[in-house]
This record gives sequence, structure tokens and C-alpha cells, in this order.
Amino acid sequence: MTIILAQHDQAPARTKRSDAMNDNVLTVEGLKVGFRTDKGRFSILDGVDFTLRRGRTLCLVGESGCGKSVTALSIMGLLAENAEILGGSARLNQHELIGLDRHALRRLRGDAMAMIFQEPMTSLNPAFTIGNQLIEGIRQHSDLEGAAAREHAIEMLKRVRIPAAEQRMGEYPHQLSGGMRQRVMIAMALANDPGLLIADEPTTALDVTIQAQILQLIRRLQHDSGTAVLMITHDLGVVAEVGDDVAVMYAGRIVERGSVTALFDDPLHPYTIGLLSSIPRLDDTLTRLSTIPGSVPTPAEMPRGCRFSTRCPFADQHCREEVPPLAAVGNDKEHVVACWKAPIEHCEECSESREVMA
Ligand SMILES: Nc1ncnc2c1ncn2[C@@H]1O[C@H](COP(=O)(O)OP(=O)(O)OP(=O)(O)O)[C@@H](O)[C@H]1O
Ligand code: SF4
Ligand SMILES: [Mg+2]
Repeated sequence: MTIILAQHDQAPARTKRSDAMNDNVLTVEGLKVGFRTDKGRFSILDGVDFTLRRGRTLCLVGESGCGKSVTALSIMGLLAENAEILGGSARLNQHELIGLDRHALRRLRGDAMAMIFQEPMTSLNPAFTIGNQLIEGIRQHSDLEGAAAREHAIEMLKRVRIPAAEQRMGEYPHQLSGGMRQRVMIAMALANDPGLLIADEPTTALDVTIQAQILQLIRRLQHDSGTAVLMITHDLGVVAEVGDDVAVMYAGRIVERGSVTALFDDPLHPYTIGLLSSIPRLDDTLTRLSTIPGSVPTPAEMPRGCRFSTRCPFADQHCREEVPPLAAVGNDKEHVVACWKAPIEHCEECSESREVMA
């Protein structure tokens, strides 16, 4: 495999308002979410854990349907009506988000935390100019009014490298290209200097050149401001490009987590190993897994023990019955894995299946 890890910049240049005592911007612990549907109640997230530090980018990766967006929406307080938070916590700068009322969450969104989506049109209003939308977002979350708010809006468009920023203020979203719209979304998201930015597949809809520009832009703005970024992606090329840390999700659980270098150099979970060996090109996505047969179990048929047991070549009865905990298995205590047999290369009974995976 030929993924080259990007050399990341040093610590962020500027101190954030939120970091006085603690570098942990977001702490998610044991987050459990289910949905009520006409077919019954289903567990989707089953104990998601991760921590995101100031100025760092944590990439959340996994196949379609594994719960990446549900995780993001739970943090932002934007889950659908039929969702139920069944347990756990998500703390933003030590303040619990789970259970906050709508009003408090709305105040935090666009201020202390912000989110950008794959398709910017889901957040931009086609009926208003981008200037109006930017100014409104700034006014709602700051003391700036009138000319000062307008000036800040123009400044934000310049920061995201939108040419002729003043002129663009008067344009409507449909007058901009997809890449420019995504830049506007980033400007809106960062206008009030949030401590946390969640980006859910922000470049998937864009062509490869624009993708690279947008990723660089996020990285540069993050370096300037110290914002913590939760980057949701299918794409291991994106992880290599912008990630400091990575959490691999499978069927609503984190199955492996660690620094990008540790995970790429020494993947421990059979699912991660499968993901890494299934990417023929840097820009390919994880929607298909050439080396792992089968597909993610549906919420209605989730296995009792390890959720990967229906596809794992190393699965046995113990795996099918007992949930493996996330734990370190080597010297790197930050590199954790949820697998009874990790590291696989030390598992004697796994040798035959290893040959199948190789
Ligand atoms: N409102 C809902 N009601 C019922 N099930 C839902 C709802 N929203 C999401 N789900 C289910 O939750 C699971 C996780 O969905 P989620 O959107 O988080 O996946 P994802 O990892 O973001 O996938 P993708 O990469 O395709 O965006 C899926 O099985 C999905 O069908
Ligand atoms: S716990 Fe068992 S089934 Fe799950 S990934 Fe590890 S070996 Fe495979
Ligand atoms: Mg999603």
C-alpha cells in the first residue's frame, strides 16, 4: 500500500478561549444511541468512546452505515426525532451536551461548536445571499452588528480564499460552484471561532483537485485557530492527509483507535487490516471491501458478541458471545483495539486464516 502520511504542522499558533485548564475539547464516553422504527427499536451506537484535543484532527472512518453521522449528530444535538440516546456522555470543554435542551444546544452550535456537511446546500438557504447568511450567523453568536458584522463576514470569505469577497457577499448560493459553496460553509462554521469543528464527508461531493484544496484550507485554518476537528470520512487518503488520530468504527462501535501513524504502520483489528488492504488507490473509498467478504449486519440482526464476528476469518464461539473491550495490547497505550485475538500475528490458532487474508 502506498499511502504517504502528511507532515503536520506544529502546535496551533493561537490560544483558544476554551483551553485554559484542559486540552480535551471533546470527550465522548460510552455513547449509546438507538432508533424507534415501525419494525421496532434498534441499537445503532453501542458505547462509542474517543477524546479530541485542541488543535488536533481525529478522523472517524468506517463503511457506510456504521454510525459515523449518527455520532456527529448526537454531539451536535441534531439527531432525528425517532432517535433515543440510551446512555453515555459527550462533553464539550467539560460541559455535558447530552440532555441539554434545544435552546442551549442551538446557542452552542455556530458558537462553541460547528458542523459542515457533504452537501453545503443542506445548510445554505437558497433564498438569501451568502452575505446575509454569514452576517446573520455572526450577529446571532457575537456582539458584532451592522458594518462590523459585515466586515467580519468579508474577512471570513477572504480567509477561506474566496476571490472578490465583497462582490460575492451579494450572490446567492446557486451562483457559486460546489467548491466555493463548501468554502462559504467553512467560513460560516468558523466565523465565531468554535473550539470544535465537525466535518462530515466535507469533500466527498467535490472533484479531486478541489477536495485537496478544501482539506488544505481546513488544515490551515485549524493551525491558525487551534480548533479541534472531528473529520468523518470513508477515505483513507483523507485520513493520511489531515488526520492526527483515527478511530475506526464498525457497526456502531469503535474497534480500533490510535495515532494515524500507529494505525497505518501497525493495524491491529482484522477489520482495520481489511480496510487498509482493500484500497487500490489513494482516492478510493471504503464503500466496498475487496478482502473482507460479507457486509455490515443490519441493526435488526446485530451479533451478540463482537459485531465483526459475522465477517471475521478469526471468529470463534467466544467472539460470537462476548463483546471484546477496547484495550491496549502493546507498548503504545493510546493505540487500543477491541478484539479478543489482537494482535493477530501473535494468535496461534489464527495462522490458517491469516493466510486467507494475506
Ligand atoms: N432516523 C433514523 N432512523 C432509523 N435508522 C437510522 C436513522 N438514521 C440513521 N439510521 C441508521 O443508523 C445507521 C448508521 O447511520 P449513519 O448515517 O450514522 O451511517 P454512516 O456511517 O454515516 O454512513 P455513510 O458513510 O453512508 O454516511 C444506519 O444503519 C442507518 O440506517
Ligand atoms: S473478537 Fe474475534 S470476531 Fe471479533 S475481530 Fe477479533 S477475532 Fe474477529
Ligand atoms: Mg454519514
